Amino acid sequence: MDGMELPPPVQMVQMLAGFQVAQALYVVAALGVPDRLVDGPLPAAALADLVGADPDALRRVLRTLAGMGVFSEVAAGTYALTPLGETLSSDHPGSMRDLAIMWMETHYAPFGHLLEGVRTGQVASDLHYGRPFFDWLSEQPAQVARFTGAMANLTDGIKAGAVSSVSLEGVTRLVDVGGADGAFLSLVLAAHPDVRAVLFDLPHVVADAPKSLAARGVADRVECVGGSFFESIPGGDGYILSLVLHDWNDEQALHILGNVVQAGGPGARLYVVEAVVPPGDTPHMGKMIDLTMLAMLTGRERSATEWRGLLDAAGFAEVTINETPTPLSVISAVVA
Ligand SMILES: C[S@@+](CC[C@H](N)C(=O)[O-])C[C@H]1O[C@@H](n2cnc3c(N)ncnc32)[C@H](O)[C@@H]1O
Repeated sequence: MDGMELPPPVQMVQMLAGFQVAQALYVVAALGVPDRLVDGPLPAAALADLVGADPDALRRVLRTLAGMGVFSEVAAGTYALTPLGETLSSDHPGSMRDLAIMWMETHYAPFGHLLEGVRTGQVASDLHYGRPFFDWLSEQPAQVARFTGAMANLTDGIKAGAVSSVSLEGVTRLVDVGGADGAFLSLVLAAHPDVRAVLFDLPHVVADAPKSLAARGVADRVECVGGSFFESIPGGDGYILSLVLHDWNDEQALHILGNVVQAGGPGARLYVVEAVVPPGDTPHMGKMIDLTMLAMLTGRERSATEWRGLLDAAGFAEVTINETPTPLSVISAVVA
């Protein structure tokens, strides 16, 4: 059927099997299969021995994923990594391994409550964990590290292409609000050698940041501050909010933005790095991530009109939406 569009029932079966594919990708990522293939192809049986898996079961998982371009069966039962499969190895610059593991270990089960969530308007993750996701996460140290690693995956693999749109006109003290381990901030600072910065996130998250900032060569220019952006935010003349506001509903987002306005004062510059959902049927990564926000948090992905409305309401002027070569835009604004 090469070159032909598959009949709708077949396409639908493939879409419905998406949960199986996500689990199979998790299995190979968690077992460390792609890491074992970085130096060259291996027979499934040898791989199973190396990673501690059942040879027949692993071969069947690899065969399925090879049919999707993640591996390549270079000889009967022998598998190689493809460029797509490389993104599940640990040290690849576009690695999504932490994201693969984090999503399946913390997001997969809550999605089982999506039907109830959509019926009632409740957050599926709250139904699963019994409390808001970030509250639950704060008591799971291994998952905090994995979540922060997943954010760094998204920075290195996707957000890096948005850095040049964070123009920092005249900014000398930049505050990255909800900046995780500083992966994105480090890229921005590398492009602006005279700027100093504050990395602000929850105390248990910034506790691990100095290591990552040192590895990225910017530790001497960054002060790490722990706290909640719902209470207060450190002072500066420039602010980054990267993939933060989409986690929260309008009321909560206005609360965070209000604290930025208070901390920065008139003239402070804001750079919001987020998806801007296009109208109509246009496919966009933001439409998929909106389901993550719907099931896991109170947030949402927003359209250009919604972003402008939110920033106007919070007291920002000169709102400009800059598309980047990535699925994310940089929305810049100035405290009025
Ligand atoms: C989706 S992540 C984005 C991380 C980072 N800005 C990036 O672009 O990779 C959201 C961040 O918000 C942080 N966060 C959640 N609640 C917070 C709060 N009340 N105060 C400060 N940071 C918070 C989380 O710890 C997490 O690092």
